[in-house]
Amino acid sequence: MNQSQNLKVEIPEKNAYTYDIVIGTNLLKQAQELIEQYTKAKKVLVVTNEKVEQLYGKDLQIKNSIRLVLKDGEEYKNFETYKKILDTAVENKLQRTDCIVAFGGGVTGDAAGFAASTYMRGIDFVQIPTTLLAQVDSSVGGKVAINHEHGKNLIGAFYQPKIVIADTFVLKTLDLRQLKTGLAEVLKYAFIEKSCAAPLNYRFFDFLKQNRQEIFGLNPFIISKMIKICCELKASVVSKDETEKGLRTVLNLGHTFAHAIENLTNYTLYTHGEAVAIGMKMAFRLAKLKNNIDTEYCEEALKLIDDYEIAPDFVDLDKDSFYEEMFLDKKAQNGKLRFVLPDGICSVCVADDITKKQIFDVI
Ligand code: NAD
Ligand code: GLY
Repeated sequence: MNQSQNLKVEIPEKNAYTYDIVIGTNLLKQAQELIEQYTKAKKVLVVTNEKVEQLYGKDLQIKNSIRLVLKDGEEYKNFETYKKILDTAVENKLQRTDCIVAFGGGVTGDAAGFAASTYMRGIDFVQIPTTLLAQVDSSVGGKVAINHEHGKNLIGAFYQPKIVIADTFVLKTLDLRQLKTGLAEVLKYAFIEKSCAAPLNYRFFDFLKQNRQEIFGLNPFIISKMIKICCELKASVVSKDETEKGLRTVLNLGHTFAHAIENLTNYTLYTHGEAVAIGMKMAFRLAKLKNNIDTEYCEEALKLIDDYEIAPDFVDLDKDSFYEEMFLDKKAQNGKLRFVLPDGICSVCVADDITKKQIFDVI
């Protein structure tokens, strides 16, 4: 399948700024043309990492480009990498009208995007996401950041790309663990569908139930459709609330638990998606405990998570440390924890009235 699909992201908060997400196969070969169409860049700084460069570097040929190949890993989403990107931009005399392209997973996209948001107070930025997680989530919506030694994504900005080019062909080299990491965010969209600004009545939940084999087999039609639905749901939320003053919080289902899990295990034991999947299971159990949802839906949702095998066994963490760690979550307000919790079929709410005992019962 060579046909690509275009989706628009509209950001009324930024003077009705809009950009396209292009989803399809063999798009790397068209990237040069798309970048010319969507930016005025004379020079392009492509930021990627060693693995992506080795796998797909030759497929992304862009005229007048400089390539910065970073080391691979979350631990490089830091100040040093940020400085390296800026140093490269300065050394190569990138101008305001030039462009930074992020070519890689969420780590590359977040770091390159943050550099683009600050170089000369912001230059054009293009996302070419190469992991499933990046194609369904991190490349869309403009959150860009680097980590600080005291917390993940502590230094960042809201900075929207000029275009997102999601080539589904590259997903074939993801290992199963990375595929499942992206699928955790995919399932999240099924659980929040009705709370998005444009519930699309896909019953995305049913789509995921029915197409598991095709998804794991990377059926190009089903994969493109799945990515498009996720991006449509995310775009609908971001267009109503770019800077997470309210609605955008729904995208954080499972994340209050997940961030604590990631922090307590020093980002070594679980990928982000694995932690989110474990966190979503906890969120469902908490919602059931509070009688927000009935047993049937809770069991159906937990079964979907189990059928996709996205949540690994959870190591026993000290419950008090876990509880304390959750207060570092960016959603916590006035010393109160806030959770996104299921409150109906494919619908969620934000709750800040959870007791310590209830949390201890589900972690
Ligand atoms: P990642 O960027 O580390 O990529 C995962 C691994 O896959 C890496 O080893 C990478 O080199 C490799 N890889 C990339 N493309 C590949 C391909 N096509 N084939 C084979 N291997 C490939 O991790 P990720 O899961 O993409 O992203 C996680 C990051 O995204 C975290 O830092 C998280 O904080 C961030 N994130 C940001 C947002 C946002 O809205 N900005 C949302 C969710 C997550
Ligand atoms: N991944 C959560 C968000 O973009 O808001």
